[in-house]
Amino acid sequence: MRRSVTIALVLLAARTAGAQFPPQKLQNLKVFPKDIPVRTLIDTMASFTRALGVRCTYCHVGEESQPLSSYDFPSDQKPEKEKAREMLRMVGAINGEYLTKLTARRTPPITVACATCHRGVTEPRPLQQIVLNAYDAAGADSAEALYRALRTRYYGRAAYDFGEVPLADVGAALRARGKMPDALRFYVLNTELTPTSAFAFRQAADAQLAAGDTAAAVRSFQRALAINPNDRQAKGALDKLGAKP
Ligand code: HEC
Ligand code: HEC
Repeated sequence: MRRSVTIALVLLAARTAGAQFPPQKLQNLKVFPKDIPVRTLIDTMASFTRALGVRCTYCHVGEESQPLSSYDFPSDQKPEKEKAREMLRMVGAINGEYLTKLTARRTPPITVACATCHRGVTEPRPLQQIVLNAYDAAGADSAEALYRALRTRYYGRAAYDFGEVPLADVGAALRARGKMPDALRFYVLNTELTPTSAFAFRQAADAQLAAGDTAAAVRSFQRALAINPNDRQAKGALDKLGAKP
C-alpha cells in the first residue's frame, strides 16, 4: 500500500516536471516534419486559432482556465485534431500538386491557407446556406433570428457576406419553392438592412409584383431608381406599370 502511494507520487512528480510550455520535444507529429522548430509549430498553431476563430482547446485536451503547460498537446483524443491533420494534407495538395500545374500564376503566386476558406469560423458555409438550413429546420422566424444574430456578431469581419446578395439568394430559393410570403419577408429584410442597394429594392419589387402587391412593387422600384437614377430595369418596370419614376 505504502509502496504504491510512493510510486504514484514519484510518477506524478515526473509528469509535472516534464510539463512545460513551450515543450522541449514534440512527440506525436504525423503531418509536420519531425524536426520542425518548436517556435514555428507554435506560430502555425496560433494561425489555426485565428483562421478558425477558436482556442487551443478546440483541438487539444486541456482546461481553458489552466496554464498551457497542463495541456496534453500530443494526445489525439479530440476528433477535431484529426480533421485538422486531414485539412493540412489537403492544403498541402492544393498548393503543392494542383496550383503548381497552372501554366501561368499570379505574381506573387497566391498560397491557399486555412483562412482562405475558414475566414475566422470553424464551419466555412456560405451565409445563404446557413439561413436556408435554419429555415428548413425551424422556420422563417428562426432563420431571420439566426441571420440577425450572426450579423451582430460578425459584421465587419471576413466570416460572412452581409451585403445584398445572400438574402436575395434566400428570397429567390424560397420563391422557387413556392413559399412566396416567406420569400417576400427576406427580400424586404434585405431592403431594411441594405437600404442603399438598388439591387435589393429591385429584387423585392419583382417579388412583390409576382405576389400581386403592385402598390408595394411600385414603391420599391421607385426607391431603386432614387438610389440609382440609371437603373434601367427599375425605370422600365415603372414605365410598364404606368407609374411615375
Ligand atoms: C484546428 C486544430 C488545432 C488547433 C486550434 C491547435 N492545434 Fe496544435 N495541433 C494540431 C494538430 C493537427 C497537431 C498535430 C500535427 C501533426 O500531426 O503533424 C498539433 C500539434 C500540436 C503540438 C505538438 C504536440 C506533440 O508533441 O506532438 C503542440 C505543442 C500544439 N499543437 C500546440 C497548440 C497550441 C499552443 C494551440 C493554441 C495556440 C494549438 N496547438 C491549437 C491542431 C490544432
Ligand atoms: C479549401 C477550403 C478549406 C481549407 C483551405 C481549409 N479547410 Fe478546414 N474545412 C473546410 C470544409 C469545407 C470543412 C467542412 C467539411 C465538412 O464537415 O463537410 C472544413 C472543416 C474543418 C474542420 C472541422 C470543423 C468542424 O467542427 O466541423 C477543422 C478542424 C478544419 N477544417 C481545420 C482546418 C485547418 C487547420 C486548415 C488549414 C490547415 C483548414 N481547415 C483549411 C474547408 C477548408
